[in-house]
Amino acid sequence: LENGLALTPQMGFNDWNAYGCAVSESLIKSTALAMHDNGMQAAGYAYVNIDDCWMTSARDSAGRLVPDPAKFPDGISGTAAYVHSLGLKLGIYEDGGTATCAGYPGSLGHETTDANTFAAWGVDYLKYDNCNNQGVSARTRYTAMRDALAATGRPILFSLCNWGEESVWTWGAPVGNSWRTTGDISASFASMVSTFHGNAGLAPYAGPGHWNDPDMLEIGNNGMSPTENRSEFSLWAEMAAPLLAGTDIAGASAETLNVLTNRNVIAVDQDSLGRQGTLVSSVNGLDVLAKPLANGDVSVVLFNETGSAATISTTAAAIGKTGASAYTLTDLWSGGTSSTTGDISASVEAHGVVMYRVSGGATGAAPSGGVHALGAGS
Ligand code: DGJ
Repeated sequence: LENGLALTPQMGFNDWNAYGCAVSESLIKSTALAMHDNGMQAAGYAYVNIDDCWMTSARDSAGRLVPDPAKFPDGISGTAAYVHSLGLKLGIYEDGGTATCAGYPGSLGHETTDANTFAAWGVDYLKYDNCNNQGVSARTRYTAMRDALAATGRPILFSLCNWGEESVWTWGAPVGNSWRTTGDISASFASMVSTFHGNAGLAPYAGPGHWNDPDMLEIGNNGMSPTENRSEFSLWAEMAAPLLAGTDIAGASAETLNVLTNRNVIAVDQDSLGRQGTLVSSVNGLDVLAKPLANGDVSVVLFNETGSAATISTTAAAIGKTGASAYTLTDLWSGGTSSTTGDISASVEAHGVVMYRVSGGATGAAPSGGVHALGAGS
């Protein structure tokens, strides 16, 4: 959507994966403050997003949505003011049907009223869900809300959430800043892998202002190991996905925060060229992805879906690099570098990744102790 927003994939937090319906002003405020203080905001996380269950079960006498006063004593506007005071932005959730998935009032037929309400409250981002849609096409319903948001004059990032239905990627670019490509993720390796595969083939449809969204991150949640956390973050960045943390941020472990704030990996996600990485090969649960970057480098992810360590190999030519006698590989998790004349290969732990930034023309650069140096056995 050409509204000047999401020129790189949006980054932020959403409460749904960790809290479900237990959203509140205190949760949103404490999360925003934690993001401000723990390095996430400095690393690029800008949006603090409220999901379903923030409102009361009925509109007011003027037909407007009403924040639940027990959950949001200062309303959405008071919550937004606090989030804005930290230099962050506030996101909210609605549904393009007659009711949200949790049963609260939906926006179908109320698009203008609700868009105006969100703008008046200072909302910066709308996630728009697809429950109870009465069989009206998503394209029609989402276009109506797009137009209502535009008419407010406030820049509001528009995130489409119709789970890949109606092949949303084929019509989503002029309608939304991102669109969900799959059903809901859950905190397990199997769910993460299935979501990854559902999204990976849709690279041609993504670009600045309009991204494929394989759902929010499960990093830090029970059900994901540290290795799996790094894999999800690497794969989402390689796919130029929105990076929406979905865990308890104020209580996050150092390990979780180290994953979420890895600047090398974030730079791949946020690269200005805006290309989604593609699968170069995928055989027996061993995957190679490549993503061209604005400065001519290529990011490579070697992903081992299997339950045993394995060597995963590709070549500079296969990932689109030619014309140099040697290439430098920077391991984006260890920071180590190594040199190759063409083979790109590493031993990758079960459920893990090795992620390299591949730079060309770096002849003469000596290997400097990369932990995944070429030739390491599996
Ligand atoms: C379905 C969406 O896909 C989820 O991300 C979440 O927003 C829930 N609805 C909320 O009810």
